Amino acid sequence: MSYQNSKNIYDEAIKFIPGGVNSPVRAFKSVNREAPIFVKKAKGSKLWDEDGNKYIDYICSWGPMILGHNFERVIAGVRDEIENGSSYGLPTKLEVELAKLITKSCPSIEKVRLTTSGTEATMSAVRLARAYTMRNKILKFEGCYHGHSDALLVKSGSGLLTDGYQDSNGITAGVLQDTLTVPFGNREKIQEILEKEDVACLIMEPVPANMGVITPDVEFLKFVREICTKTKTVLIFDEVISGFRLSLGGAQEYFGITPDMTTLGKIIGGGYPVGAFGGKKKIMDLVAPIGRVYHAGTLSGNPISVRAGLETIGYLYENRETIYKTLEEKTKYITTELEKIAMEYNVPVCINRLGSLYTIFFTDRKEVNNLEDALSSNTENFAIYFNEMLDNGIVIPPSQFEAHFISLALTEEDIEKTLKVARKAFEKISKK
Ligand SMILES: Cc1ncc(COP(=O)(O)O)c(C=O)c1O
Repeated sequence: MSYQNSKNIYDEAIKFIPGGVNSPVRAFKSVNREAPIFVKKAKGSKLWDEDGNKYIDYICSWGPMILGHNFERVIAGVRDEIENGSSYGLPTKLEVELAKLITKSCPSIEKVRLTTSGTEATMSAVRLARAYTMRNKILKFEGCYHGHSDALLVKSGSGLLTDGYQDSNGITAGVLQDTLTVPFGNREKIQEILEKEDVACLIMEPVPANMGVITPDVEFLKFVREICTKTKTVLIFDEVISGFRLSLGGAQEYFGITPDMTTLGKIIGGGYPVGAFGGKKKIMDLVAPIGRVYHAGTLSGNPISVRAGLETIGYLYENRETIYKTLEEKTKYITTELEKIAMEYNVPVCINRLGSLYTIFFTDRKEVNNLEDALSSNTENFAIYFNEMLDNGIVIPPSQFEAHFISLALTEEDIEKTLKVARKAFEKISKK
């Protein structure tokens, strides 16, 4: 496979864009590549790069493309909406329809406000929780990622973890001191902090997917719910990834745990920029213009994004009885086969899977339950695996600490090819 065109574009890109990319993980730095691939187009389960190479896609734009790329119904809706206009700075009926569909699918959300990204959703949710409780501190888990607002870039996952650090420079000491962190699953520390400190909210990915996928224990989620209720701490489920992916009602429906607030993104925009935060009416009604918690956005609720979201969620809603089961079955099959192949070649791995998300941790730990476990992974082995996959037409997340995303478009043929190439990759690792 030739990557020359991508390389040429990258050489230009680094002159004008920091690191040549507009989001750090895209740089393929941690998997020892000279340059990332530059994507030209996508359809269904496939991507094509600027050199004409075709790939089976396990990134799925980091989650939104649950139906596959250029899904007919979504594209038809977008085409139709573009004919009307792009953005008005005034409300549209579509926004009301999306809000209704979100609240119907996820009943803990009584009212919802749209944003343009997941980052804005979590940033505003935290502000709202602070105003509601009149407390300053917030609590998050090590290795969870909630976007790139100052308060949440502490002990973060995703791109920071990929590049070998967890906190960003440029954040004031005051902000840092108000964000408390604990290891995922550590009940004693959570209890100690929430009982001792005045904490406005506990924000968490109910299924952490930004240090690789961690499968939570439902008893732990119950504990978190109870301690938040007891200490009057707002429990925010950041379901930017898990929302509409694990089930229509996200992880909260999957596990039967009700948060006070929820943040969404990715799937609700069907591949276009969107985010949302919502929850109990009594909390949401503090948002401007009713209350004095300010949130706004020139492109919030952009009609093209909202239409793409409506078509995507609409399709998921109408096919909810089959879609989630199908996605889960595909994921289960792939991960079970991968485990067998890894064992055959004696390569230690721990594969975490939930719904249509999975991560292969190249570790000899039997379980990966938190950041410390995830960091035990052999990133060199991961890089070999990634490169073998890419060079054979399969694109997986270019980081050990991210999730693979399964789309409905993934075919049996795609899966068989993936397993065949994975076998070559494991063989290579075993001969290292
Ligand atoms: C759980 C979670 N929250 C928030 C965000 C931020 O969303 P965005 O990238 O749309 O700003 C992400 C992004 O990956 C995420 O995974």
